[in-house]
Amino acid sequence: MITASMSRDESTQQLAKDPLVGEMLGPYEVIARVAEGGMGVILAAQHTKIGRRVAIKLLRDDLVKNKDQVSRFLNEAKTVNRVGHPNIIQIYDFIEDWEREPPLVYMVMEYLVGRNLHEYVDAMSCLSADETIDIADEICAALVAMHDVNVLHLDLKPHNIFLASGDTSVREQRVKLLDFGVSRVFAEGQRVELTDPGQLIGTPKYMAPEQILGRPLDVRADIYALGLVMYKMLVGDLFIQAEEVGALLVEQVHTEPPSEIIAGDGRRVPPVLEKVVHRCLRKVAAERYGSARELRDALRLARASQTGKVAALPEGDATGEMTLRSGGAMRAAVVVLLVLLCGGGLWLWLRGGTGGNRRARAAGSGSASASGSATAAAMRADAAAGRTDSAAL
Ligand SMILES: Nc1ncnc2c1ncn2[C@@H]1O[C@H](COP(=O)(O)OP(=O)(O)OP(=O)(O)O)[C@@H](O)[C@H]1O
Ligand SMILES: [Mg+2]
Repeated sequence: MITASMSRDESTQQLAKDPLVGEMLGPYEVIARVAEGGMGVILAAQHTKIGRRVAIKLLRDDLVKNKDQVSRFLNEAKTVNRVGHPNIIQIYDFIEDWEREPPLVYMVMEYLVGRNLHEYVDAMSCLSADETIDIADEICAALVAMHDVNVLHLDLKPHNIFLASGDTSVREQRVKLLDFGVSRVFAEGQRVELTDPGQLIGTPKYMAPEQILGRPLDVRADIYALGLVMYKMLVGDLFIQAEEVGALLVEQVHTEPPSEIIAGDGRRVPPVLEKVVHRCLRKVAAERYGSARELRDALRLARASQTGKVAALPEGDATGEMTLRSGGAMRAAVVVLLVLLCGGGLWLWLRGGTGGNRRARAAGSGSASASGSATAAAMRADAAAGRTDSAAL
């Protein structure tokens, strides 16, 4: 977040220009474009009367025309406010300006200074066991708060985790969970059934197997995703490597992480932490931690039981290469998975995925929401890649 002492020039010098820069959105003057997400752009703005700095998430023009998209966007703002936690982005307002040409729909959020976890891991190559535990601990705090009020995030990934600096009174960085665009509220004791059985919601690269297979979901889907996020922090990459979306989905369902996780610096991850990551990544939800609290306790034990120094590999095994251990009968798995997916109408979307790198990129790191008509899939997946050609499927 930004401090009152920070000048406008200092705080925005790294930010890109946008056609809306200088325009008024309600009482806020747009100062710069901060980022572009799948749903639209994130703008830095300032309240002209009281000087409050905010971030504005502006829904993309073509999505504004779609009532369902607008209500999903509103749902994101409502869900965040249902939870309310220091490790979750704050959303102050939700505006639909239908008088304006073109109409604008946006939410006003707290302005964060820092970078998302994807950018941070990219810059660092990989993170230490200590730092991984610290960040995962804060993510767990957010998950505990969410799960306590029956909210599943379902799109946990490094792009949606922000490391906010500037809050130095507490510590240098504060983890903030972003983007509740595909989150779901579930009834007490119930699991989430996606309303349309043909839908695929989330980001394939960080989706739990049961989410891919369209099965009922509970908190353990978020725990699986956090396992992948931890793996990414430690190693700098995922063990799921497929470029093409169909293969990626199959790998997510069947490919096990290596039994020894080698950190990005070539050393073995401390076994006690490795065990925690492995348990989050169990393909069968019942074998994972049953709650974010349980996972947080395990992480704290892991922190306490070792000094944070990674154990050296035995001589001659210091290449840093990961062993990929695939689940058996991969070919059969591909067939079974595709048959399952065809039943849900997802085949259309997968066909789009086989069309080359464009779709693969969207599937890999972008959020996706696919339906039998493929329209929703196109919107979210194309949107994630910042494209507007969603009709191309
Ligand atoms: N409040 C904020 N302050 C500063 N930067 C932000 C803020 N919210 C989001 N960002 C930046 O914008 C990026 C995209 O944000 P967000 O995930 O909310 O958008 P999105 O359109 O839903 O994304 P996608 O659908 O691609 O996942 C984030 O990764 C982060 O870097
Ligand atoms: Mg996002």
